[in-house]
Amino acid sequence: MAQRRFFVGGNWKMNGNKESLGGIISTLNTASLHDQTEVVCGAPSIYLDFARSSLDPRIGVAAQNCYRVAKGAFTGEISPAMIKDCGVDWVILGHSERRHVFGESDELIGQKVAHALESDLGVIACIGEKLEEREAGTTEEVVYAQTQVIAENVKDWGKVVLAYEPVWAIGTGKTATPEQAQEVHEKLRAWIRANVSDDVANSVRIIYGGSVTGANCRELASQDDVDGFLVGGASLKPEFVDIINARK
Ligand code: PGA
Repeated sequence: MAQRRFFVGGNWKMNGNKESLGGIISTLNTASLHDQTEVVCGAPSIYLDFARSSLDPRIGVAAQNCYRVAKGAFTGEISPAMIKDCGVDWVILGHSERRHVFGESDELIGQKVAHALESDLGVIACIGEKLEEREAGTTEEVVYAQTQVIAENVKDWGKVVLAYEPVWAIGTGKTATPEQAQEVHEKLRAWIRANVSDDVANSVRIIYGGSVTGANCRELASQDDVDGFLVGGASLKPEFVDIINARK
């Protein structure tokens, strides 16, 4: 099996304040974290600077979104250049809440991916099917189409982590089984092999997201094609440390 460094992202979403996030930060700063695991915390944009200046430098920080250009009259948006200026190296793009609550299209997500990478940010690119799509048997079709648009906008896959997050598993407590996660991850890797390259298929981290907890992370992490996690709710709790250390 190719050596892929285990990657665990926390997605704090629109939660917390300086006091509670400061508590999570100090838990992480003092915890014993597996030194081969890459850890990145997705902070609300107003707390990016705070997160970056408080977290130990061995832990990365991600913005949860950004716009597709460097600057201009786009009230309320932030650019990759601003994210970099805060010392932050990652951005989460295409999260299902951006797609389905805020109506972001595949096209816009693709443009954001391209611009974030050109601006030297690492990108956690999210894809995943809705419950009705899974039930209709279109999971593969949906995730391949989403991955295609991302792939068209990536030149350097070294800075991309692909997050498979079935929408029905996000925030629902209904985690994909290890077999369900492995099945989709394996197919995504095969799609990348066929449509991008062998090298990228072997090296790209494909992480799973959707109700990952301290209790279910080890079995999920034991699957060959699960290279880490994107964690929402549990990233706000001390059990995030157990999830970071899920890889044996
Ligand atoms: P969850 O969220 O772990 O709370 O299901 C995952 C995500 O949205 O990235």
